[in-house]
Amino acid sequence: MQKMNLHSICISLSFLVAIFAVLSSTHIINSNPSFLKYLINLSLTFISSSPITSTVITYNIGRHHKHHKKNKTVNPCEDFSPDFPPDTDTTSYICVDRNGCCNFTTVQAAVNAIPDFSQNRTIIWINTGIYYEKVTVPSPKTNVTFQGQGFTSTAIAWNDTANSSHGTSFSGSVQVFSTNFIAKNISFMNLAPIPNPGDVGAQAVAIKISGDKAAFWGCGFFGAQDTLHDDKGRHYFRDCYIQGSIDFIFGNGRSLYENCLLISMAKPVDPGSKGINGALTAHGRTSQDENTGFAFTNCTVGGNGRVWLGRAWRPFARVVFANTSMSDIIAPEGWNDFNDPTRDKTIFFGEYNCSGPGANMAMRLPYVLRLNDTQAYPFLNVSFVDGDQWLQPYN
Ligand SMILES: *[C@@H]1O[C@H](CO)[C@@H](O)[C@H](O)[C@H]1NC(C)=O
Ligand SMILES: *[C@@H]1O[C@H](CO)[C@@H](O)[C@H](O)[C@H]1NC(C)=O
Ligand SMILES: *[C@@H]1O[C@H](CO)[C@@H](O)[C@H](O)[C@H]1NC(C)=O
Ligand SMILES: *[C@@H]1O[C@H](CO)[C@@H](O)[C@H](O)[C@H]1NC(C)=O
Ligand SMILES: *[C@@H]1O[C@H](CO)[C@@H](O)[C@H](O)[C@H]1NC(C)=O
Ligand SMILES: *[C@@H]1O[C@H](CO)[C@@H](O)[C@H](O)[C@H]1NC(C)=O
Ligand SMILES: *[C@@H]1O[C@H](CO)[C@@H](O)[C@H](O)[C@H]1NC(C)=O
Ligand SMILES: *[C@@H]1O[C@H](CO)[C@@H](O)[C@H](O)[C@H]1NC(C)=O
Ligand SMILES: *[C@@H]1O[C@H](CO)[C@@H](O)[C@H](O)[C@H]1NC(C)=O
Ligand SMILES: *[C@@H]1O[C@H](CO)[C@@H](O)[C@H](O)[C@H]1NC(C)=O
Ligand SMILES: *[C@@H]1O[C@H](CO)[C@@H](O)[C@H](O)[C@H]1NC(C)=O
Ligand SMILES: *[C@@H]1O[C@H](CO)[C@@H](O)[C@H](O)[C@H]1NC(C)=O
Repeated sequence: MQKMNLHSICISLSFLVAIFAVLSSTHIINSNPSFLKYLINLSLTFISSSPITSTVITYNIGRHHKHHKKNKTVNPCEDFSPDFPPDTDTTSYICVDRNGCCNFTTVQAAVNAIPDFSQNRTIIWINTGIYYEKVTVPSPKTNVTFQGQGFTSTAIAWNDTANSSHGTSFSGSVQVFSTNFIAKNISFMNLAPIPNPGDVGAQAVAIKISGDKAAFWGCGFFGAQDTLHDDKGRHYFRDCYIQGSIDFIFGNGRSLYENCLLISMAKPVDPGSKGINGALTAHGRTSQDENTGFAFTNCTVGGNGRVWLGRAWRPFARVVFANTSMSDIIAPEGWNDFNDPTRDKTIFFGEYNCSGPGANMAMRLPYVLRLNDTQAYPFLNVSFVDGDQWLQPYN
């Protein structure tokens, strides 16, 4: 199976971003199965109409391209051949397929079937497709892995908003409360309409991660305002795609984001305008006794609009960007103290060895830290999240 590097991810993204935009703008959310068919068909149409994307992600969807000319009544399970290994003493597999070809048709049903407080790992193997459901992984469901087939081909999506769920914190399409959660090669989406500036109650979280020791490899996070609720605990993100507009990575987690793509979908701004219409992060550290913070290393920042790297959601917000390439969507002042100057003394907003037009520090606000090697070091690798104690290698 061909490896997907960041470059090819960039290219194949065009298809998912396009789908996301279509869904969000037309509100075509529907739970009936023909809607799902439509969605998949839509993605296939996007892919096949683009020669570049088709070369990148053909292998994800190859199965569905087979023609059954001999017999029009196709058994959807005929080609079903999940490629997971047999169970071991410490790892067991259960399988989810929308078409009913294996154990479960919904991710939630699979989660519910896992024994509580398991010390063994349960890998939920999720077949290609968009699963339109709201999923909760409650705290007794420990050691769970969601294994998708690629973040451009497997997704869990719902459309709650702060209004519809009685608060931003409950709006997540997926909500994880258990420890040792892992997700690989899958996307989390909130398809609620993209809010206009000033809209109230339209925050729409794609995933809320409140459990300790969680790892995300090759995952996608799709939303607009408040996409990724990195709520609390130690988390690791690698090779992920994260899209949003306002405060789209927020919470009080202690997290390392490595080799990730952060894409702003804030509205494009006029070249002459000085307006700001979004922020990549809003960290929620409340006191200097907390060792929380968001560290981004070796990431790429791009997209539309003019945005801050972060806003100080709480007075001791701590965010560092290291070795990250930034396009000109980053506002020259870089950061925002939530319009509360008393926070300037307590926030920790640092930058280290970043590149690109957005990384120019000439106009940065006085409180922004230009970290030297020594100061940056704690934020550059998995020791920031005590990864040596819990983070397992990808395979
Ligand atoms: C989610 O989608 C359904 C089906 O289209 C719609 O009825 C509902 O209002 C949507 N919810 C929100 C909060 O937009
Ligand atoms: C899939 O897309 C094709 C081309 O756009 C269209 O002709 C066909 O009717 C669609 N099928 C379904 C099930 O929506
Ligand atoms: C098509 O498949 C159905 C169900 O598998 C079967 O009953 C039928 O005989 C097949 N028809 C042909 C022409 O092969
Ligand atoms: C968990 O692993 C232990 C040790 O290998 C094994 O004895 C036990 O049966 C497993 N439990 C479950 C629920 O699979
Ligand atoms: C899942 O399906 C496999 C294969 O049919 C079966 O062996 C296994 O017991 C099922 N597991 C659960 C939890 O239903
Ligand atoms: C399961 O979780 C416990 C703590 O919650 C951890 O100590 C253990 O190593 C985990 N087991 C596996 C197989 O990941
Ligand atoms: C949320 O609810 C408030 C109060 O009912 C209302 O004013 C606002 O328009 C709603 N927002 C959205 C996005 O529906
Ligand atoms: C799954 O994610 C890993 C880790 O980010 C990546 O190396 C791999 O190419 C991905 N595979 C697919 C099929 O997307
Ligand atoms: C940093 O990212 C580049 C691609 O953007 C990748 O080639 C390189 O291996 C990454 N470096 C580390 C240390 O992960
Ligand atoms: C920074 O990026 C360069 C070039 O991709 C890479 O060689 C170096 O290892 C990276 N440093 C860190 C700390 O990731
Ligand atoms: C700083 O970034 C440049 C790329 O812009 C890279 O070549 C270099 O290795 C980085 N230095 C460190 C110490 O990571
Ligand atoms: C880094 O900055 C700190 C704080 O200003 C200072 O104490 C330290 O000497 C500096 N280290 C280097 C290597 O410049």
